[in-house]
Amino acid sequence: MHIVFDREKCQGHGRCYALAPDLFDADDEGYALVLVSGELADDQVAAAQLAADNCPEYAITVEA
Ligand code: F3S
Repeated sequence: MHIVFDREKCQGHGRCYALAPDLFDADDEGYALVLVSGELADDQVAAAQLAADNCPEYAITVEA
């Protein structure tokens, strides 16, 4: 599984980096940055999905 982040959809709500700070950070304007690339470790998948589920803009998906 890996994170797909659509920067065009991100509006800086910040839920992703609040809920999953090991996977996401904020840029200088509060938009999300993805901290991991490639395959997620098994123990990262739930956090990634939590962030995806809580993004109001549907900017994050967790895909196989
Ligand atoms: Fe952006 Fe959604 Fe995170 S709008 S800052 S990806 S919660």
